[in-house]
Amino acid sequence: MPAPLPPGPRLPAALQTARWVAQPVPFFERCRARYGGRFTLRLLFGPPIVNLTDPGEVKAMFAAPPEVLAPGVGGRVLEPLVGARSVLVLDGQDHLRQRKLMLPAFHGERMTALAGLLEDVTAREIAAWPRGEPVELHPRLQALTLEVILRAVFGLEPGGRLDALRAVLTEYLEVGAAPVNMMPALQRDLGPRSPWGRFLRVRARALGLIEAEIARRRADTSGPHGDVLTMLLEATEEDGTPMPDLDVRDELMTLLVAGHETTASQLAWTCERLVRTPRVLGALQAAVDAGDEPYITATIQEALRCRPVLLFTQPRFVAQDVEIGGVRYAAGSCSLAANVHLVHHDPALYPDPYAFRPERFLEQGPGTFTWLPFGGGRRRCLGQAFAMLEMRVVLAELLATTDLAAAPDVAGKDEGRRRRHITVSPGSGARVVLQARRGAPALQVA
Ligand code: HEM
Repeated sequence: MPAPLPPGPRLPAALQTARWVAQPVPFFERCRARYGGRFTLRLLFGPPIVNLTDPGEVKAMFAAPPEVLAPGVGGRVLEPLVGARSVLVLDGQDHLRQRKLMLPAFHGERMTALAGLLEDVTAREIAAWPRGEPVELHPRLQALTLEVILRAVFGLEPGGRLDALRAVLTEYLEVGAAPVNMMPALQRDLGPRSPWGRFLRVRARALGLIEAEIARRRADTSGPHGDVLTMLLEATEEDGTPMPDLDVRDELMTLLVAGHETTASQLAWTCERLVRTPRVLGALQAAVDAGDEPYITATIQEALRCRPVLLFTQPRFVAQDVEIGGVRYAAGSCSLAANVHLVHHDPALYPDPYAFRPERFLEQGPGTFTWLPFGGGRRRCLGQAFAMLEMRVVLAELLATTDLAAAPDVAGKDEGRRRRHITVSPGSGARVVLQARRGAPALQVA
């Protein structure tokens, strides 16, 4: 008889899913208090998920061979959004091959080359945000990160094609965030007004435009572009085989889905934390003025620790028997995931874990198995350098040109958490008041 899974709540899967959706953090914290640092959740989709919080066990999970632990199975919940050839849903050799083709587009020097474009897009967007009245930063940051992806990943220049793709992808991301897209049982096309029917139709329009863009770019040999799509089109396997167009299409969708909402929500959380921690806000503004990169980076690292937008890593399905932390997991019995929130709030790893204190990362850099906002191992976030660069650029521009304060109606209390598909963002949208900063350079809009 296979060994039992670690203990966990005995509530029916529907109730566990409801708590996981609506109140994930109190739910996780209660589980840890009751069952300890390793517990099993049963959600409506997929096999049971064993949550790991011990850094040694997290390390062993990241290191397990791809044929033993298979994250692609857990990633299937995203397949309707990203496509069957996405690096998020592939496993084993297929995944490694695809990831290898994509990696060069995200190397450090490629990112440096994109910095100017990011600064330009950011300055234009932020200059248009209202001053002197309460605003929700989250939707504005979503628009900003979408624009960054369309320009830096898809390589679109301002004009009709950019406008058309922006319009359809905004709708696609909105419709795609509905819970129905996580629940295969509800995915029935009951006509254009049903949630799934609407999703299928907007997806068909979005894929059509992306396929047309790929065909146009294959035909356009007019010289170097610095964007990610160019790199994907140029990528070849060792024998010279290029990536098929359908793979390129699914990977573009993947980069959009994986890179847009995550970065927007993480920036929104960073602002939410900053306006509630005036000491850090003041220190960060001084760091921006002085060009003190280490403090800016430490602030972002601390925001990623306190408010990770993905509360656990991609679950890794146990495809072959494996033993981790002295527990034997039988093939097919469950998935394993690192519970990022709980690791980041373990007082043994982070003294005073609920305090927002960037200095902790100046004293000691983030640990590979204790700081997990981007996951780890062979599935570590491909866009980590891209996201860190983008967050640095956006925060620096925002603090150089504006003074931030919490909007009066939400001041004095933390914003709760709101779920959008698998990410969590600030419950009131990161509501702040921006004031033009005296002496800030005025933007020259051509
Ligand atoms: C603050 C922003 C972001 C956060 C917090 C984040 C977080 C994550 C996490 C937790 C994973 C799963 C890792 C694992 O389970 O080990 C992941 C995977 C991934 N991310 Fe990100 N991400 C962010 C931004 C981006 C951006 C900007 C891009 C691309 C433009 C991107 C592309 C990807 C891809 C392609 C994967 C799948 C990697 C694979 O399975 O091999 N992400 N990300």
